[in-house]
Parts: sequence; structure tokens; C-alpha cells
Amino acid sequence: MIVVTGATGQLGRLVIAALIKKVPASGIVAAVRNVEKAKDIAAVGVQVRYADYNQPPTWEIVEDLEAALEQFREIATDLDTK
Ligand SMILES: NC(=O)c1ccc[n+]([C@@H]2O[C@H](COP(=O)([O-])OP(=O)(O)OC[C@H]3O[C@@H](n4cnc5c(N)ncnc54)[C@H](OP(=O)(O)O)[C@@H]3O)[C@@H](O)[C@H]2O)c1
Repeated sequence: MIVVTGATGQLGRLVIAALIKKVPASGIVAAVRNVEKAKDIAAVGVQVRYADYNQPPTWEIVEDLEAALEQFREIATDLDTK
């Protein structure tokens, strides 16, 4: 599974367009803060999940990523303390 953050932005859309040429759309998750804005992305078979950077609990909606996020949080905390 590949998760693209900022999927409704300029770069995110380019990344998704490139990815769907290489992997099945169902294996791509578009993390977005505005699900309505991602209707065209969902229409091509990409999984759209709500995830707002300012509301970390919503990140957990991106299934299978909790362990990775925990690792990220630990690294970020570690960097903060250095
Ligand atoms: N475009 C490029 O060619 C390019 C090249 C190299 C690096 N970058 C870097 O890549 C990043 C994105 O660039 P971009 O041009 O794609 O910018 P953009 O079009 O403004 O896209 C930003 C994306 O981030 C999302 N976003 C903003 N705040 C958020 C939040 N609180 N929670 C969840 N999502 C949030 C936006 O969501 P909404 O759609 O809902 O506003 C949008 O999808 C930037 O850091 C930029 O410097 C871009």
C-alpha cells in the first residue's frame, strides 16, 4: 500500500497520476483533508481517506499505518529532544 499525503495538491495529483501507471489504483491511498475535493481521485479507484495534519487522531483512519506513524512520532520526538 502506498499513501500519498497532500493528494489533492499539485504535487500529490502528479504523484497519483504517475503511480496509477505503475501499481493498481486500489493499492494507493490518498490522504486528504477535504474528501469532497478528492472525488475525481476516488473515481479512478484510489482509496481516499480523511487525514488532517492539524488533527493527528484522524491519521489513524489511514489503516495499516498506525505502526509507521508511531515510529514517525518516536523519531520526531527524538529529534525534538536533540
Ligand atoms: N508542486 C511541485 O512541483 C513541488 C515540487 C517539489 C516540492 N514541492 C513541495 O511539495 C509540497 C506540496 O506542494 P504543492 O505544490 O502540491 O502544494 P499545494 O498544491 O498547495 O498542495 C498542498 C496540499 O497539502 C494539503 N494540506 C494543506 N494543509 C493540510 C492539512 N492541515 N492537512 C492535510 N492536508 C493539508 C492541501 O490540501 P487541500 O487540497 O485541501 O488544500 C493540498 O492537498 C510543498 O511542501 C512543496 O514545497 C512541490
